[in-house]
Amino acid sequence: MIIVDELKNRALILNSRPDGYPDESNFKLIEIDIPELNPGEFIVKILWLSVDPYMRGRMSDKKSYAPSVEIGDVMVGGAVGKIISSRNTEFEVGDLVEGRFGWQEYAISNGMNARKLTINESDISKALGALGMPGLTAYFGLFSLGRPIPNDTVVISAASGAVGAVVGQLAKLSGCKVVGIVGSDPKAMYIKNELNFDYVINYKKEDVCKRLLEICPNGIDIYFDNVGGEILEAVLENLAFRARIVVCGQIAQYNLANDEVAHGITNFRNILTNQATVEGFIVSRFASDFPQAYSFLERLYTDGKLKTKEDIIINLENTPEALLRVLTGKNFGKQIVQIV
Ligand SMILES: NC(=O)c1ccc[n+]([C@@H]2O[C@H](COP(=O)([O-])OP(=O)(O)OC[C@H]3O[C@@H](n4cnc5c(N)ncnc54)[C@H](OP(=O)(O)O)[C@@H]3O)[C@@H](O)[C@H]2O)c1
Repeated sequence: MIIVDELKNRALILNSRPDGYPDESNFKLIEIDIPELNPGEFIVKILWLSVDPYMRGRMSDKKSYAPSVEIGDVMVGGAVGKIISSRNTEFEVGDLVEGRFGWQEYAISNGMNARKLTINESDISKALGALGMPGLTAYFGLFSLGRPIPNDTVVISAASGAVGAVVGQLAKLSGCKVVGIVGSDPKAMYIKNELNFDYVINYKKEDVCKRLLEICPNGIDIYFDNVGGEILEAVLENLAFRARIVVCGQIAQYNLANDEVAHGITNFRNILTNQATVEGFIVSRFASDFPQAYSFLERLYTDGKLKTKEDIIINLENTPEALLRVLTGKNFGKQIVQIV
């Protein structure tokens, strides 16, 4: 039996807003008491934290699709953990849950936006990656916006990452020719040899535009854009007729300093001439269909048809470093933090 009164919570709060890339000084570790539970609430002992590119946007006070984190507030983020005390009849002690619990060791929830996990305890960290928000993003971005048909040529940027690696595997299962763009040779080897992508481009070593013209002689039917910038511009040079550009992320722009200007796209005319569509999306748009997507992804995973790779950092205090890894491409696979 856990005596909750004796527990202390440690949390990372936002200490200041970054200008350009964030660093550790933007966060502060604090120790706080865990309050008494109100009826309907439960306490989660967090086991794994998710670290995602969108967190950079929450640190900024620029207008976006979701509110900024206020200075002094616990940093937002998805997490999975185990319930250790509950006054909620639908969530029991021992249940494994995923939710937006933030960068802390314990969280209090009323059950809103928390989901019970039915996967094996040894797999629960996957509920932050391929079997969680990034997997859903891949699923809805590819199937609802990209609408792949067999033999389509699908190009994916940040292709070894949490979202990109799932997009590529789903596109392969849909009978497409899949090209991944990544920023290192180990990432290139992984998506080619382990995930069976058809072609790989290392954008740090190769001329992306030239390689895409060689690899995709009939043009690109679907571009799943995770980065924007120069890679998007290179893709626009080789679109197929009625191509679909799925704008999922623009990570190349997330860390611009306040006085820096984003890379301007100069060849948007190719959208017109190829009668292509460009559509951005935020995965929450598809919330009503999440249950079917979770079942689909979990079934693929159980059947061995969806591979996952995790990049694990240990301890809450190293979470800022984990975020910087994601924003600089040092992560290799879904970035998560284990709370030990
Ligand atoms: N629309 C939505 O609802 C939604 C939901 C989730 C994620 N997203 C977006 O999806 C994208 C991928 O997210 P993720 O969680 O799967 O992250 P991730 O791919 O696991 O990690 C980010 C990767 O982005 C690449 N990168 C970083 N800086 C870059 C730069 N300046 N230029 C080009 N590539 C850069 C790096 O890979 P390389 O080493 O290969 O360059 C890095 O490993 C992000 O843009 C994110 O914001 C959108």
